[in-house]
Amino acid sequence: MKFREFINYLDTKNKLIHIKKPVSLEFEMANIMATFNERPIIFENIKESSFPVVGGLCSSRNLIAKALEVSEKNLVKKLCNAINNLKKPEIVETAPCQEIVETSPDLYKLPIMRYMPKDGGRYIPSGISVVRDPELNVQNVSFHRLMLLDKNHFVARIVENRGTDTALKKAGGELEIAICIGNSTAVMLAAATSLSHGVDEFYLANAIEPTPLVKCKTVNLYVPADSEFVLEGKITKEMHDEGPFLDLTTTYDKIRKQPIIEITCITHRKDAIWQTLLPGLNEHRNLMGMPREPTIFNEVSKVCKCVNVQLTSGGGNWLHAIIQIHKEKEEDGKQAIQAAFKGHSSLKHCVVIDDDIDIDNPASVEWAIATRFQGDKDMIIMPNQPGSSLDPSADLTEGKKAITCKVGIDATIPFDKKDKSFKPESYKKVNMKEYLQG
Ligand SMILES: Cc1cc2nc3c(=O)[nH]c(=O)nc-3n(C[C@H](O)[C@H](O)[C@H](O)COP(=O)(O)O)c2cc1C
Repeated sequence: MKFREFINYLDTKNKLIHIKKPVSLEFEMANIMATFNERPIIFENIKESSFPVVGGLCSSRNLIAKALEVSEKNLVKKLCNAINNLKKPEIVETAPCQEIVETSPDLYKLPIMRYMPKDGGRYIPSGISVVRDPELNVQNVSFHRLMLLDKNHFVARIVENRGTDTALKKAGGELEIAICIGNSTAVMLAAATSLSHGVDEFYLANAIEPTPLVKCKTVNLYVPADSEFVLEGKITKEMHDEGPFLDLTTTYDKIRKQPIIEITCITHRKDAIWQTLLPGLNEHRNLMGMPREPTIFNEVSKVCKCVNVQLTSGGGNWLHAIIQIHKEKEEDGKQAIQAAFKGHSSLKHCVVIDDDIDIDNPASVEWAIATRFQGDKDMIIMPNQPGSSLDPSADLTEGKKAITCKVGIDATIPFDKKDKSFKPESYKKVNMKEYLQG
């Protein structure tokens, strides 16, 4: 469903909280969102801006499944299918996101929030950044949090060696950028996906649901026609302190020197709705983690029969995965571990389970570890691996890739013992009413 279509759908189901009371961008809105457990919410009256703000649209797997019109169980398969069948988007001449064009931008008019007390400033965590790789002449789409500096500048967090960073380096440190705010869940998930270099992630969004693009007004970039806001400008060679900022592990990411972005034009819908999300919590984690599930699924499927994959919330939906397989050979479990690390390079720990274990139930997964796993035989330990900069326990030496130790747990039934009893026994249920009377 498109962004507005989904908001209307939630409203008709009474699942959108309306806040009519005047609220402030400074902490208050973030605290309200957290208090309402990130449920979908619309702030209609913001003290410092005339635009309404929506948040929480991707805060659960259930909401994401609803927006993509698929069951939760088939979510990973739907994303896998889209990744394997990318589709070129239609280009349109006129678009809702360009109803208003402002060539003298004032970012202070936008509802850019301050989330946590130690954050380095006001931030946009929900913007989709579009750049063009100058050598491949292909767009790269991804998230980059933006810390507001003044009325036409941000400093962006651009993680090294991902699409934007490599394009920026090839361009000599200066590159046109478009930042889209207010997007469909398909666009959000596609932007958070790392496709191989040279593939525009909007092809993925369009394979999930039709996502027409329009050319920007002042830069040679194409953005979703249905976006609410588009900020056009360039990444400059100038650097500025970025951070601290609350990240996936709900710990503050440190201050780094990062590139300044200059905004030269803002386009938006006439009645534009801003989109926000709460950094560090479920929405951020779901969007980060879910696009890795199909990439893990695809890799594991190359070595054995993969049934399902889930990045779990305790691992920030980023560092920990459960891989469910239909085991056919003894080596399947260990090969699945190796493949899972290939499918998601930031993955730190993974557990492989059989298809009779409930992947949605942490106690069921723990039971598999307790009853089917022996540490000396079924564990793979891989020290000194490139890992995630979001893990505070990793070696985070400045200027180097984070180094971590990766561990895989094969909690599948040993193949030679398949005939032995590895199933939990259960008691027969009685009719309770019969025993409560008299
Ligand atoms: C909500 C959210 C915020 C993110 N913030 C950043 C960020 O600030 N900087 C960054 O480099 N990546 C960030 N990411 C991760 C990138 O979007 C993600 O790694 C992306 O897939 C990179 O794609 P690429 O490899 O095609 O460039 C964020 C992801 C999400 C879902």
